[in-house]
Amino acid sequence: YFIGIDIGTTSVKIIATDENGNIVRSISKEYPLSFPKPLWSQQNPEDWWRQSISGFKELLDGLDKSEVKAVSFSGQMHGMVTLDENDQVVRPAILWNDQRTEKECEYLNNEIGRNKISQWTGNVALTGFTAPKVLWLKGNEPENFAVAKKIMLPKDYIAYKMSGVFATDMSDASGTLYLDVKNRKWSAEMLELLGISEEQLPRLYESYEVIGNIKPDLAEELGLNKDVKIVIGGGDQAVAAVGGGVVGAGSCSLSLGTSGVVFTSNEEFFVDENNGLHSFCHANGKYHLMGVTLAAAASLKWWVEEVNKSEDFDGLLNEAKEAQIDDSLFYLPYLMGERTPHNDPNCRGTFIGINMTHERKHMTRAVLEGVAFSLRDTFEIMKEMGIEITDISISGGGAKSKLWCEIIADVLNVRVNKLNTNEGPAYGAAILASVGFGLFDRVEDACCKFIKVTESIHPDKENSQLYNKKYEKFRKIYPTVKDLFK
Ligand code: XUL
Repeated sequence: YFIGIDIGTTSVKIIATDENGNIVRSISKEYPLSFPKPLWSQQNPEDWWRQSISGFKELLDGLDKSEVKAVSFSGQMHGMVTLDENDQVVRPAILWNDQRTEKECEYLNNEIGRNKISQWTGNVALTGFTAPKVLWLKGNEPENFAVAKKIMLPKDYIAYKMSGVFATDMSDASGTLYLDVKNRKWSAEMLELLGISEEQLPRLYESYEVIGNIKPDLAEELGLNKDVKIVIGGGDQAVAAVGGGVVGAGSCSLSLGTSGVVFTSNEEFFVDENNGLHSFCHANGKYHLMGVTLAAAASLKWWVEEVNKSEDFDGLLNEAKEAQIDDSLFYLPYLMGERTPHNDPNCRGTFIGINMTHERKHMTRAVLEGVAFSLRDTFEIMKEMGIEITDISISGGGAKSKLWCEIIADVLNVRVNKLNTNEGPAYGAAILASVGFGLFDRVEDACCKFIKVTESIHPDKENSQLYNKKYEKFRKIYPTVKDLFK
């Protein structure tokens, strides 16, 4: 068996696959998320560990333990875990969705300068990234900064506890803003700027590489063979892409969850000159780009549950099918600010163009379209960079709506594909475990064998043309309204 462990934000998900890529068992365990002050978001790394081990034991209960060959990981990205000289956690991990570092980002992007930061790392500072968290620790908790002998990412902590090897991988390290993404090494300039040394950081591996064997005492506790391989794995977005087969040049996925992520896999390093897209290392040893719409399925959830006080998602979506494409009614999905393309935490959502004939169905449709247009913003940047996309594989809760998939196919003018697997990052981690073990030479070979398209939704020519016109108007709204939210 190959085990994939995904350290998510609300829970850890663990799955076991056989050598044909079939999922034989899956389990998930929750842990608390705490918001001790406005803008703060933290978790205790010990909780991840406790729940991972307890989940792992439960998963193994139903399996022949001697058949477990390798374990790998996926993890929430960007979070900062600090350990002291005795390997004790110094303070709770500061997570990807923590927003306390606006000042530090301003310092990096404006005083040091976006151009320099982008030249050194391939990206610019966002509040979620790790480098501004390191600066925050140094400035606000100097006593903790002084004793932080190891700085690592969430999944690296679990890999360290399991193997005793202080390691990370290129895809997750890309989200720190102190990796030189293009050259796949720590950025000497950024480390100097942050006041940290390479000794405090884990050794860099590719996501599919073995970092060591499971620790002997842990093997004994779990009843596993001593030669079970620990494969480092990667950041959740890159590993989810592996789990969805997004590994060849120009291969593209859309994860339509709370947020919407458009992800494209590339053979070479690309950087968008406006840094609207994240330019990261992929888990197959190559590169990827991604853009994020923060409130994607979150927009629909807000519209159905908060505004309409309903739980009847299907009812509202069925109604929206009856509404025609109407190029006067718009929705901007910036309920939580926006990453791509505006990188503006202060912008907000709007409906624009309401008239007396509009009913709920028109507004529901406008919400679905507004999210699709925002995803198209990312798409347009990718197109401008010369990346050609004809197909995207779709996953996440929003993908359950056929209407939304059709709207996305029409707005992006691509084929939208559904796959035989919808397990995301935990499945991708199990694939990386099988590649690290040696079942395949390349991540691409594993994906090719295990992942199949089960349904394709084709764009409708006429609707696509209507949406092209509507999108041109949509693009003009943000520049017009953005100053209202400052
Ligand atoms: C990626 C990102 C999220 C987190 C949490 O940039 O912020 O995907 O990794 O899932």
